[in-house]
Parts: sequence; structure tokens; C-alpha cells
Amino acid sequence: MDRQEEILPTEHEVYHPSAEAISEAVIKDYDALYARSVADPEGFWATEAKELEWYEPWDQVLDDSNPPFFKWFTGAKTNIVHNALDRHVKTWRRNKLALIWEGEPGDRRSYSYYRLWQETCRFANVLRSMGVQKGDRVTIYMGRVPELAIAMLACAKVGAVHSVVYGGFSEQALADRIDDAQSRVLITQDGAWLRGKIVELKKTADEAIRRSPVVEHVIVLKRTEQEIYMEPGRDYWLHDLLALPIAAPTCSTEVMDAEDPLFILYTSGTTGTPKGLLHTHGGYQVFTSTTLKWVFDFKEADRWWCAADPGWITGHSYIVYAPLILGATSFMYEGAPTHPYPNRWWKLVESYGITILYTAPTAIRGLMRFGDAWPNRHDLSSLRLLGSVGEPINPEAWRWYHRVIGKDKCPIMDTWWQTETGGFMITPMPSVPLKPGSATRPFPGIEAEIVNEEAEPVKANEDGYLVVKKPWPGMARTVYGDPDRFVSQYWERFQKQGYYLTGDSARKDEDGYFWIIGRIDDVIKVSGYRLGTAEIESALVSHKAVAESACIGIPDELRGNVIWAYCILRSGYEGSDRLVAQLKDHVRHETGPITVPAKIEFVDKLPKTRSGKIMRRVLKAQALGQDVGDISTLEA
Ligand code: PRX
Repeated sequence: MDRQEEILPTEHEVYHPSAEAISEAVIKDYDALYARSVADPEGFWATEAKELEWYEPWDQVLDDSNPPFFKWFTGAKTNIVHNALDRHVKTWRRNKLALIWEGEPGDRRSYSYYRLWQETCRFANVLRSMGVQKGDRVTIYMGRVPELAIAMLACAKVGAVHSVVYGGFSEQALADRIDDAQSRVLITQDGAWLRGKIVELKKTADEAIRRSPVVEHVIVLKRTEQEIYMEPGRDYWLHDLLALPIAAPTCSTEVMDAEDPLFILYTSGTTGTPKGLLHTHGGYQVFTSTTLKWVFDFKEADRWWCAADPGWITGHSYIVYAPLILGATSFMYEGAPTHPYPNRWWKLVESYGITILYTAPTAIRGLMRFGDAWPNRHDLSSLRLLGSVGEPINPEAWRWYHRVIGKDKCPIMDTWWQTETGGFMITPMPSVPLKPGSATRPFPGIEAEIVNEEAEPVKANEDGYLVVKKPWPGMARTVYGDPDRFVSQYWERFQKQGYYLTGDSARKDEDGYFWIIGRIDDVIKVSGYRLGTAEIESALVSHKAVAESACIGIPDELRGNVIWAYCILRSGYEGSDRLVAQLKDHVRHETGPITVPAKIEFVDKLPKTRSGKIMRRVLKAQALGQDVGDISTLEA
């Protein structure tokens, strides 16, 4: 098993919640709740589902007649937007702030539930007027702006399936995703602000549409206001569309089956192109809202800041859907944490009175490097809880976050989960004792285990495959358009037992605490972003000089991992610093800035198995100066 990162177990370092924290927590006794949940998971999830409104109730909580294609709340009629918006505007919450936003240049906007609902209705009417119907796919390629959330909600309201593509991806990545989803409508913006510069989203979108001509209409938000190309008859400014009489502030919500698709979100896997994980309305709304409510201990007066990008699952579940379902006030910030100075985030926490901050280890490490003086300049006393997600958090970064940001009084919720799981799976709650670097224990209703090749549980502190033994409502239902891939990637490995293979290795200590080690497949986490070696290798090989390439992840103090690429050149080409620079540029252009290798090396040969598979673990061991292990399958 390939160990990506060594975490020092810190068994003796336990942070116990205070008696006061326990008495104020929504969930006071995790053990009792957990025991109850796994004794009767269906009853447990049904109770939580009843917290929400349904147009019609379900006939069956879990339909497991065709594993691994599980169905939840079958027969129920619903729409997640009904729970996220429609029901709130009928109550006092219509005047509560739903979303507060600050742009990188310092401009501010806020939306009450009523206003957010109206804007969603207007956008939904625009979509309907363009012929968007239930089941149609709409691709969204935007920065961190309120209109992104509104666009997602508008799609869901009319029953369309959104596919949000992270704004940091380049044209080929966008084109592939548009093509796979066959989206006729694309929603984008002229540009997004990042580090004082414009990320030219529309320009990239134009190139992607050239490569994937299925798009018929493009809706463009004006944000950065530079001159852009607008194709007559194809491209429309959002503000022009919203000025039309069709953009009325009320709009009916499409009645959906609980199992109707809500969104597709592409993520990297072991092989080939990114796969589109499909999530549905019914189970997803129950799972995301229950997990957020308990793990982050939601109180009506909280100001929640999930600093992720809405283009990733974290943003889908915990910026857009779950906080709105809970009637929370969310904060969203457009730009870079260090712009114009490294105190930007701390200034935001102070000015907006943020009570819960949820971010990623890479951001914490990035800000930690500027020292304590920047956060210490600000009043961070509004914070009561902190969160972490995306990769294992190093105990050192954990302690800094706890001490300097949380002033030793804010517990850190280290949430382990995945695009595929929809929401938190292994995570503490405020009443659970914490160990820095451990995501602690499974969420109620979730049965996680560490097993060996034979699917047997391993002993305490031994490495193994992290699996989930039973279905849960937030799980992805399939890979869009490729159900075989869903089976082969996640379910074939432990088919007999019916376990879900997470792709992570982990260990469990004698207290039952889970310690995530890292990926066991060819997925690399760079700054918390999940990248497939296959995508970066394809980008390299699409350059005329490269015949073959292999990429590996090398541990990096700041970014978790960085990419090292090995390339075999085509005849007639020679390796040089200039070519390295050209290749980096090419990858940036093809798949986006986060995918650019930190190092590119030219080689004559790559280690391969006799069947021709590249042995990346051999490259990695060599790069790290480690023993290459069993290479009996290596080609001579
Ligand atoms: O390796 C695990 C790591 O992120 C992977 C999932 O990536 P993605 O689908 O992009 O979702 C990220 C946000 C949910 C996992 O397989 N991971 C996520 N959270 C943690 C983590 N590793 C350790 N600790 C975490 N808290």
C-alpha cells in the first residue's frame, strides 16, 4: 500500500470538550446516538428525513434490491429548493440573511432568504424561457459569486441537473465536462477576481465551446467588466435577460421524485477521464442537512463561513444546499486569502462576526507561514467552532489553527468525506474528544471499517483499506452515463461483502479513532484538490514533443503534495529548460493552473509492468529515495 503521508499518531494528546461545551452542544452523547443509529439505520434516517418537507411521503426508506444502485426515500415527491428556499419564505426567516458576500476588490452584497428566493425564481424563469426542462444538464463555470449559488438553485428549481466546473480548470477540462454531460446551456461570467487579477472565464469558455460545440446558449454574468467577445445569437448578458418580462420574481418549483438527479460533479479517478458523480434530490438533502446540523452544531444566530469553492463538493453541500436547508446565514468571499495582505481572512472573520470557519489544511498551512502577528491584529472572539476538510491535517497545523485562530477554545471538526459520499462520513462533533490529525469516528448511521485484502478488519493501528459497510442517503447513485465504471471503481473490490471502497488507506487506534493516511490509487491531492495522474499525463502527451509521461505526487509542506512528471520525448526533440517551461505552460492551458507539475524530468524509459502499466509507485519510491518494494511484475 502506497503511503502518501506519514502522520505521527499522537495518542497522548487528547483535547476534551468542556462540560459547558457539552451542555450547549446539539448532540451531547455521541456514543448513545451512534449505537441507536446503526441498530436501525432506516428508522434513524427516516426520523431525520421527517425534519424536512416533502410534497408526498416515501413508500420505502431504502430500496436495496439492486446493489450497488441503492435508492432512498422511494416514492417520495420533493425538490431540494423547496427545503432550501421556498419553505423559509413562508416563515419569519424570509427576512433573515441567507448569504453575505464580499468580493475581492471589497464590494459587498447580502441576500435575505426572500431576496435569494426571488433571484432564484427570476433566474429559473430565464432558464425555462430558454427551453431548459426537467432532466436537462446545465454547465456552470463561474467564480465565487452569489450568482453561482443562484444559478445552481435555479437549475434545481426547474428540475435541471447542474454540472459545476471549477473556475480554475482550463478549456479542455471544461470541454470534456460539457461534452460528457451534453449541456446545451452554459452559465459563466466575463471574469473573476483573484489576487488582484482577472481570471478570464468567458475567454476559456469560448475556447471550450469551440472544442465541444453542443452548447447553444451562453448566459454571461458581468463581473470584471473587461471587454469580451459575445457571439450574437448564442451569448447573452445575464442582466439583459433579467430585465426581460419573462424574468418574473415568482416561479413554480418542479416536483421531483426523491431519486431524480440534482447534479453531476466531476472528480478524478484512477483511470481515464474524470467521472461525473450523480447525486439526487431526496437522500442528499437529508444527509447534508443532518450532518451539518450536528457536526457544526448549528444555532440560529450562527454566521457560517465555508471557505471552499462552490465548484467542489464541499461548496455544493456546505455552501449552497445544507446551510440553506437549515435556514443558516452563510458568508462567501470571492478571492485569495492573502489579498491584498495576509490578514484578509482574519479581517473578514472580524468584520462579519463569523462564528464557524470551515476550511482546508492547505489554506491553514498557507496562512500559518505568515506568522501569528496577522491574525493577532484582529478580534477573532466571535469564532466558536473550526473545521477542516480535504486532506489529512498535520498535527502542527492543527495546533496552530486551534491556538492562534481558535484561541484554545474552538474545537476543530476534521471532517473526512468525498465527492462520492455527498457529506461528512468520519468526523467529530463538538462533544467528542479530539486528537490532532484524526477525523475521529464515523457519523451516526455510517459504518466505516479498515480491512485487509480479504475484507477482514485489521488490528488496531494497522493500515488497511477504508471501506463503508452499509449504504447511506447521501451516497452518489452512479457515474453519469457509465454505471459499469461506478461498479468497477467502488464496488467490485469487495463485491461479496457489499462494501464501498473509498480509495483511501487508513488505520484505527485502540479508541476506535480513524487516522486517514492517503489515497491508494493514482489520485494526487494538491492543495486539497483531487487530481488524476491520467488527466495530467494526457495533457502532457497532447504536446507535440511528448511521447509518454507519468506523474506522481511528492509530499510538500505547504500544498500537501506537488506533481512531478516524467516524460519520454518524441524523436527529434531534446530536453531543455525551455521545453520544461513550454510544457508547464501547455498543461496550465489544457487542464488549469493547479495541475501544473512542480518538476518535469525527461527520461528514456518508464518503469512498467509486463502488461504495460506504468508503475508510478516505483517512480515515487525512487524520487523519495525509498526502497522500491516488490517489483516482480516490472518489465525487464
Ligand atoms: O483522500 C481523502 C481526502 O480527500 C478525498 C476526497 O476528495 P474529494 O472528493 O475532492 O472531496 C474533498 C472534500 C470532501 C478523500 O478520499 N480527504 C477529504 N477529507 C479528508 C481527507 N483526508 C484526510 N482527512 C480529511 N478530513
